[in-house]
Amino acid sequence: MSNTVDPAHDRAILDYFTKQASGFAAGPELHGRDVVQLIVDAAAPLPQDHAIDLACGPGSIVCALAETAAHATGLDATPAMLEEARALAARTGRTNVTWEQGSVYAVPHQDGAFAIVTCRFAFHHLTDPAAAFAEMLRLAAPNGRIVLCDGIASDDRRKAEAFNAMECWRDPSTVEFRTLGYLQHLFVAAGLGEPALARFQVPYLAKDLVAASFPKGGERSALLALLDGSVEGDPLGMSAQRTPEGVRLAFPSVVLSAAKPG
Ligand SMILES: C[S@@+](CC[C@H](N)C(=O)[O-])C[C@H]1O[C@@H](n2cnc3c(N)ncnc32)[C@H](O)[C@@H]1O
Repeated sequence: MSNTVDPAHDRAILDYFTKQASGFAAGPELHGRDVVQLIVDAAAPLPQDHAIDLACGPGSIVCALAETAAHATGLDATPAMLEEARALAARTGRTNVTWEQGSVYAVPHQDGAFAIVTCRFAFHHLTDPAAAFAEMLRLAAPNGRIVLCDGIASDDRRKAEAFNAMECWRDPSTVEFRTLGYLQHLFVAAGLGEPALARFQVPYLAKDLVAASFPKGGERSALLALLDGSVEGDPLGMSAQRTPEGVRLAFPSVVLSAAKPG
């Protein structure tokens, strides 16, 4: 990948998402129609629009946007994810899509080339979110829609630190989940004003989340013990609850969107 910010981190991304690609693509928690639709609703594609989804992973957002838009492009650093995306496009008969391997920091398209620029659940993997956001802004046409979605850390600093420590263990390619205020500030600092917000939760059974993860040191049972122990006082800010099936918890998440000034 060219134009990297941190080559060691880029290797961690490639390593983790190559291992995770097929399992990640199969997860209904992130690729079910209801959750994908949150991005489509914020992007509001029109038949003449060209859209790009940065860090597209297995392509569910690109394929959903391309149901209405003239064309949608997905860009991702990890070839195994792009293979999943190609397979999804083939299964769903989507031909108005293009897949590109590359970096969110240096997208090989002209300024203002897209009416819609989206990025979902990737900013917590980025060492330089402001640079990636600047690239989203650059790619958007005047009046184009910019849609950013990610999990968010609690405003309670101790919960945020515990949550990020757990996530960096569970997924070593994580840099940091930021707060809602941090993500809102990206829009405001770029001159887009306060973004529209849609909050949602991404729920998991703790044991399913652990089974789909590749924690540092391979310590799945210790990770599950940590999650199972996070009910009292909700120290991770994940609303953990004991249920007959096991501990259930959720990633608090948000979709932020705004139009680029014309
Ligand atoms: C958690 S997955 C999310 C995938 C997809 N956006 C979705 O919501 O289904 C994160 C994706 O970000 C990609 N990624 C991480 N850092 C990247 C970078 N600097 N440039 C391009 N892609 C990156 C990974 O390869 C991975 O596919």
